[in-house]
Amino acid sequence: MDNEKVCLWKAKYLLDIDEVDAQHQHYFSICSKIVNLCDLVRSDKAVRFGPFIVAIFELRSYAFKHFLTEETLLAKYKYPGAFSHIELHDQYLESIRDFHKKIKIYHAQANASVDNAFLVKVEEVVEFALGWWVKHIMEEDRKYADFIKEVGKEQDKNERYLGG
Ligand SMILES: [Fe+2]
Ligand SMILES: [Fe+2]
Repeated sequence: MDNEKVCLWKAKYLLDIDEVDAQHQHYFSICSKIVNLCDLVRSDKAVRFGPFIVAIFELRSYAFKHFLTEETLLAKYKYPGAFSHIELHDQYLESIRDFHKKIKIYHAQANASVDNAFLVKVEEVVEFALGWWVKHIMEEDRKYADFIKEVGKEQDKNERYLGG
């Protein structure tokens, strides 16, 4: 690709943990891809279900990948809010799973053009996904990121003390 017209990611989402930031940014690019496809349909272009389905699968599979990265960090740094944080990830995955159930019938029509009913469902889930990720990153991810950075500073201090 990438002739994306819409870019939904913003620098204020950065948490200063490179791998996490890169994954967050990628997630927004999946949403941007879907929004751009919706815009094409709205401007009367015939768009097939196929590209939508690929991006919609990624809404789920990339979330898994990202949650694995984060949850590994939470365990590694013994983050006190780890279990609650994981519950939030699970709730998100449940919502995506419900959405997948709703659009399952379209999978068999990958080569047909997108209809309005499908478009409405897709726009609904992208709006939900974006709202969820922005709030989750700004509130919940930021909490563990600050914690990890503090722990890192303490460890550096202790290592310097022991080494000195
Ligand atoms: Fe995250
Ligand atoms: Fe998270």
